[in-house]
Amino acid sequence: AAVELEPYQHYMQKEIFEQPRALSDTLTDVLAISPELFGDGAWRRFQEIDSLLILACGTSYYSGLVAKYWIEALARIPVQVEIASEYRYRESVPNPKALVVVISQSGETADTLAALRHAKGLGHTHTLTVCNVATSTMVRECALSYITRAGVEIGVASTKAFTTQLAGLYLLTLALAQTKGSLDDETINDHLQQLRHIPSAVQAVLALEPQVISWAQSFTRMENALFLGRGMHYPIALEGALKLKEISYIHAEAYPAGELKHGPLALVTSAMPVVVVAPNDALLEKLKSNMQEVRARGGVLYVLADAETNITSDTGTHVIRMPEHYGLLSPILHVVPLQLLAYHTALGKGTDVDKPRNLAKSVTVE
Ligand code: G6P
Repeated sequence: AAVELEPYQHYMQKEIFEQPRALSDTLTDVLAISPELFGDGAWRRFQEIDSLLILACGTSYYSGLVAKYWIEALARIPVQVEIASEYRYRESVPNPKALVVVISQSGETADTLAALRHAKGLGHTHTLTVCNVATSTMVRECALSYITRAGVEIGVASTKAFTTQLAGLYLLTLALAQTKGSLDDETINDHLQQLRHIPSAVQAVLALEPQVISWAQSFTRMENALFLGRGMHYPIALEGALKLKEISYIHAEAYPAGELKHGPLALVTSAMPVVVVAPNDALLEKLKSNMQEVRARGGVLYVLADAETNITSDTGTHVIRMPEHYGLLSPILHVVPLQLLAYHTALGKGTDVDKPRNLAKSVTVE
């Protein structure tokens, strides 16, 4: 059945604005944290595992990279994240005590499915998927699952599927922390309450759209862009760069900010806008010095600053301040302006936003 587009111009725009609804639907049945949110027998499996191996492609791979930070920090379990198409073709060392997690909007991506089957062939039995399609092959072939409720996603560039995956992966983090005893019940419940507030926090971020549109007006004239982030916001920088590439055809690269001096700084000129994801965390001071290095070379900064930072707009530094500080969940908030930036830049360039050239929504052949 056709999905109604009105009053939006594109599905991608509609899907960006649907995120508060998609997130609250994804969390609606979660009254308390329990391994059983992931299916029968999850508690026993979570007890047995000693590590995670996350496999995915594209945007889903980036949600896996964020999850690594969360799971290692809160559940204290080592996590490896690998691109599905790489994993399936190398001689990895199987660990039957690893939980294999496949993340996929469609549940049908050929490389991710093949990676799952490859892992099972190597003797992995603990498998879990975070997936947006309950009837998909991936859900059928995994022992455990969490179904996100983003609803049908039509725009080729994934938006609401990504943020709902992150919500599902945060639940997984908390369920693992509970099983392993790394957090007490009260702390776990506090984290769940924070997650429950995410839909309204995203709603507040969407209200920043007019400011993002003014950034996009400069981006339509650019040929390249650099995205910087640190820690769990490095994957958000990667996702921002991917969105821009996919739909506006502007060459974009993301780097962990600390790597700037090891290469990309050579590219910085006044023709290279630098987008900085700058939450108020332990690495903020280091990020500020990275920003000065960019300014010193004439680079123009576009900073997504946390509510509590004192970074201000200045010549060559454009700041959009996030409405509130959100700690560990801030990747879910920071990605939203980057989705809007890609969308409005593409709109300005007149590209086919929902069906970018050469790309498919679901890649079911290799
Ligand atoms: C394609 C889509 C991307 C998506 C990727 C993985 O490349 O264009 O938006 O992230 O496949 O898809 P999946 O359904 O497995 O999440």
